[in-house]
Amino acid sequence: PVLVVDFGAQYAQLIARRVREAKVYSEIVPHTFTVEQMLAKDPAAIILSGGPSSVYAQGAPFVDPALFEAGVPVLGICYGFQAMAQALGGKVAQTGLSEYGGTEVEVCSAGVLLAETPDHQTTWMSHGDSVHAAPEGFEVLATSSGSPVAAFEDTSRRLYGVQWHPEVKHSAHGQAVLERFLYEGAGLAPDWTPGNVIAEQVALIREQVGDARVICGLSGGVDSSVAAALVQQAVGDQLTCVFVDHGLLRAGEVEQVERDFVAATGVKLVVMDEKQRFLAALAGHSDPETKRKIIGREFIRAFEQAARDIVGESREHDSDDTEVKFLVQGTLYPDVVESGGGEGTANIKSHHNVGGLPDDLQFSLVEPLRALFKDEVRAVGRELGVPEVIVARQPFPGPGLGIRIVGEVTAERLEILRAADAIAREELTKAGLDDEIWQCPVVLLADVRSVGVQGDGRTYGHPIVLRPVSSEDAMTADWTRLPYDVLATISTRITNEVKDVNRVVLDVTSKPPGTIEWE
Ligand code: XMP
Repeated sequence: PVLVVDFGAQYAQLIARRVREAKVYSEIVPHTFTVEQMLAKDPAAIILSGGPSSVYAQGAPFVDPALFEAGVPVLGICYGFQAMAQALGGKVAQTGLSEYGGTEVEVCSAGVLLAETPDHQTTWMSHGDSVHAAPEGFEVLATSSGSPVAAFEDTSRRLYGVQWHPEVKHSAHGQAVLERFLYEGAGLAPDWTPGNVIAEQVALIREQVGDARVICGLSGGVDSSVAAALVQQAVGDQLTCVFVDHGLLRAGEVEQVERDFVAATGVKLVVMDEKQRFLAALAGHSDPETKRKIIGREFIRAFEQAARDIVGESREHDSDDTEVKFLVQGTLYPDVVESGGGEGTANIKSHHNVGGLPDDLQFSLVEPLRALFKDEVRAVGRELGVPEVIVARQPFPGPGLGIRIVGEVTAERLEILRAADAIAREELTKAGLDDEIWQCPVVLLADVRSVGVQGDGRTYGHPIVLRPVSSEDAMTADWTRLPYDVLATISTRITNEVKDVNRVVLDVTSKPPGTIEWE
């Protein structure tokens, strides 16, 4: 892999994505990794990410110069660039000046890294210190008003660096620079494709599972569907998909899975009606993390039940009675990072399929999508023949409507939210906005009431929140500027058609600071 060393910036993930967009596999490792640990991964190249620190700050992450002697091509970005310059004997100055945002860079010598990009280019910068002298053996490729050395390279040692952030779209030729490094600087071939991911994962799944039985919790969403299709490809009939109807689903979801997914993949599907179990377990709870943990726990209990049923059935039919040992989950890379799986990252929410698992879990997990981003999962799904209606679906969280009712979850509230959600989805689709929106959670503020007037009477109902967001990977998001007339139609229809709702409000918060879901 290409290793992206994370110096604590939010950019590491973005770099990994861009490298993969160039069809080269990449992984993120924490900066606390020693050179030995990095080399143990047999990296094809290493990219040092940006970071919040100054190389002079106390406790600033340090780059071991041995890294540059390992014969592995290295690209330093922003902080990584400065750390590289410093480690190799260049001069990094604390100027007190900073460059932030769109910055013009002048190319003085294109070299390998900047060939194929223009002499003047707009780049996105975010730094305080700057490199004033390149280390010995390096050629200076570009300068900007705040950075006497804005890019450099030493082709004999295959070391490269840029002060700007090529991974950010605001850097006009950023992707070209990254590709120059990967293809020319490091000599890598663009051959990491969905087809290869499938072949690799199929082999890994076979190795992990052997001839044991496997169940997969299917939610009808993109992730679990693609994970199931992948495992089906790997172990065929050893897999049974279990769809737990927890009563927290949107209108029409069970039907869609039964109809579209099974037809396309031919998986064995068991639908369990667990509405009462979940409702009973959630009764009296309104704390978001508690609700998430309860839902995670009940999911597992339902899967355990399904596993017992499967084994019982196969005994009846006198076939071999191997226990169900594995549970497939469609965990994605951002889930892993956001649940505190990344080094030094805070636990923001317990995603039910990562942080919310009970301690006494009896299954081993099979998580073939754990290293992938959403768009990559979609590409893999398409390659596997998962139908477009499922692959293109907007993300829907495992805990479902349970985390879109702010307050206690009850059957009545679920019905209200389901009706409002169906209207919003219908109108957004009708307006042709599905591609523009990453997802649009519809949230019921169950503990809030406000006064309204409908017909001739006073009402005292609940607000519904629309939370349309645009995003590339759900790590960050912006609120989608929906046309007013579409918002008006949704608002009118919801207040007219959904009982107990007398107000529709629009969430205009980006992420950060707001998360996408309200809980
Ligand atoms: P947040 O709310 O953390 O959401 O900004 C980021 C993305 O993750 C989805 N999400 C979940 N998906 N299980 C899931 O499978 C969960 O527990 C969960 N919580 C949030 C959310 O819909 C958004 O796409």
